[in-house]
Amino acid sequence: MKIAIRYYSGAGNTKFVAKKITKALKQNSHRVSSVKVSEESNREGIDDDFDVLGIGFPIYFREAPELLFDLLKRMEGKKRPVFFFTTKGLYSGDAMKNIMAFSVDQNFSPVSFAEFFMPGTDFLILFAKKDSLMERVLKRIHSRDIDKKVAELIRKVEGALPAKTPRQKWYTDFDERVVKYFENKYDNHHRAYIGQFHSNPETCIECMKCVNGCPRHNIVLDGHIDFGESCDVCFNCIHNCPTDAIDIGKITAGNVRYKKVELL
Ligand SMILES: Cc1cc2nc3c(=O)[nH]c(=O)nc-3n(C[C@H](O)[C@H](O)[C@H](O)COP(=O)(O)O)c2cc1C
Ligand code: SF4
Ligand code: SF4
Repeated sequence: MKIAIRYYSGAGNTKFVAKKITKALKQNSHRVSSVKVSEESNREGIDDDFDVLGIGFPIYFREAPELLFDLLKRMEGKKRPVFFFTTKGLYSGDAMKNIMAFSVDQNFSPVSFAEFFMPGTDFLILFAKKDSLMERVLKRIHSRDIDKKVAELIRKVEGALPAKTPRQKWYTDFDERVVKYFENKYDNHHRAYIGQFHSNPETCIECMKCVNGCPRHNIVLDGHIDFGESCDVCFNCIHNCPTDAIDIGKITAGNVRYKKVELL
């Protein structure tokens, strides 16, 4: 089968899982194209030449990032199968249910989905001090059965049986009424960090990793590293800077950086 995987990934967790799925599908002799979704790739649209679509995303505030909905909006499912995978730190609310329902509106037929527990890229940088117990605990939260889950996902994709709709989570009401109320009240709280990202000129080695890796093209090197306002607060830049030169105000001083290499 020709399988198109489109995924979003901030700090790298979802990319890691997308690679595993791609490798396993290729081992089963499928032709796979795997692309990280960005605003540009969405503008360019998607090559419609595929039999099955795979959508991967991290959970941000119990939802799939908007870019994935934008992508699906531009697509015509023609009743083709679609499967979903997500990485999450703790809980995903009804994100999977919502994006699956959206894909049905776009005329896709959901066949399978999988959720992978991974270290919370938000929690680590915002709340965990380096070398603390919390760091050790949070970094160990990887789906233990990741390869088993990938194999199960692929088995269902190949079987093309219709996916069951994920059950509404028990805490959805609490989430909608209380948690989201406070998030909105404080302007989604992460938005408060926009404008506070800065890089330390003494430790920055101008490697351009943050500039090239920012999914929103929000970082420029103009004498020094400069951050704009169009930020998803995905934490890619801050986690993957080789010299830990980036901070958000003073909030992240001395806190954990979680490098992609730790996933290998
Ligand atoms: C802005 C932001 C919001 C997040 N919100 C949630 C959440 O609501 N629930 C959850 O389980 N994890 C949440 N996380 C953790 C990520 O879903 C998790 O670490 C994921 O694996 C990150 O994948 P990525 O590295 O591909 O971006 C959040 C992370 C960020 C950066
Ligand atoms: S990733 Fe870090 S070291 Fe590299 S340019 Fe950005 S701030 Fe500087
Ligand atoms: S500037 Fe914002 S959008 Fe860009 S990598 Fe950093 S956190 Fe992500």
